[in-house]
Amino acid sequence: MNLSQRLSRSVVLVLALLLVAGCTEIGNMQEQDKLHKPYSESPNFDVAAPELEPNAVPIGAGFLQEGREDPAFLQADTHFYMGMVEDELAEDFPPNFEITESVLAEGQRQYEGFCSPCHGYSGYGDGVLTQEGLIKPASFHTDDLRSRPVGSLYNTITNGQGNMFSYGGRISPENRWAIVAYMRALQLSEYAELSALSDDMQTAFEAATTDEDAAPASDMDMMGTDAASDMDDAADAESSDE
Ligand code: HEC
Repeated sequence: MNLSQRLSRSVVLVLALLLVAGCTEIGNMQEQDKLHKPYSESPNFDVAAPELEPNAVPIGAGFLQEGREDPAFLQADTHFYMGMVEDELAEDFPPNFEITESVLAEGQRQYEGFCSPCHGYSGYGDGVLTQEGLIKPASFHTDDLRSRPVGSLYNTITNGQGNMFSYGGRISPENRWAIVAYMRALQLSEYAELSALSDDMQTAFEAATTDEDAAPASDMDMMGTDAASDMDDAADAESSDE
């Protein structure tokens, strides 16, 4: 081997070494730092993962952990995230959840997107999918559903129920509460005490109903199931006339 041969050999060697070094420098797919520390801290959670209890779920994932003594592991406000207050279904909306007009509008948007295909736009359980043979869900306009605590509605959305699947992973807690607020509005729209209206509206309502038929209106159940289905019938009759 002469000098130039030796030189070119060492040049090749140096180049090869550089290449190898380059590979690790650039980042070989097999060499991923994060693979070596799967349970390191995440900026999203207060707890480092190794300390999490088995079956622990990220905040807001919305699982109701049954039989747990201490839900504090969720680092969460159980009222807001699970609809539970001291292991009971919450009777009220969470104190940190304010129902404003825009919240209701968002609740309506969410309800119409996620729920109306089965439950119908007005909540009578007559959504389009029920015409395709899907099992008909119960109407929201029954004494049973009207008297459910808000935490129960929130839980049904979060965890599903019977034939209905869960939305805990698909709809944020804020929006689940917004949907509950909108469902309450839907229920009120179909069934409210006359005394809940302002004096002006009560007078207008009484004038309107006593004009039509002599029966005095004692409450505002005019839009209850019967009236609504009468209206549907009338609409059907009208459209079949065409
Ligand atoms: C794919 C159809 C479908 C969709 C979408 C759906 N539901 Fe349901 N829902 C059902 C059925 C079916 C039932 C009856 C469940 C049963 O008892 O088997 C039901 C029941 C309910 C009940 C009554 C539960 C009870 O305790 O009796 C509520 C409240 C409810 N749904 C709310 C919602 C809300 C809010 C949404 C939207 C986030 C929604 N559902 C989306 C099909 C659906």
